[in-house]
Amino acid sequence: MAISFTLNGEAKSLDADPEMPLLWALRDEFQLTGTKFGCGVALCGACTVHVDGVAVRSCQTFIGDIEGASVTTIEALETDEVKALRQAWVELDVPQCGYCQSGQLMQAADLLATSPKPTDDDIDAAMDGNVCRCASYQRIRAGIHRAAEILEA
Ligand code: FES
Ligand code: FES
Repeated sequence: MAISFTLNGEAKSLDADPEMPLLWALRDEFQLTGTKFGCGVALCGACTVHVDGVAVRSCQTFIGDIEGASVTTIEALETDEVKALRQAWVELDVPQCGYCQSGQLMQAADLLATSPKPTDDDIDAAMDGNVCRCASYQRIRAGIHRAAEILEA
């Protein structure tokens, strides 16, 4: 069954099992490997992408559910929020190994879009499902605060 959707601003159609995880389609069918596999069961956040502007776990989002939707991956997210986050990430040297970071940025961009001046509690609540094996949590939190400052300037 062909499923039609928008991927990073371009119309796409994929003839696939509607129960194929979006993560598989992104990585294997569209070679968008910036989105990572971590757990496969919506527990780590490594696979986070935006569907219609909202952060979702692509390992547990099925192709059949995105008919007509707009999917954005880390390769194409160019909102003011993610630009500020990238600047902050570089300034504060946030990543360690980097594996979790595309998911962290996608989740943080969603947070800043809805909460431009988040508190520590807001950040902890929003980022709770994004695991970092390198434990870069303090730098991620500082990076989100710095990005909020950049957006406000
Ligand atoms: S791979 Fe999707 S949440 Fe872990
Ligand atoms: S930076 Fe290594 S897993 Fe997060």
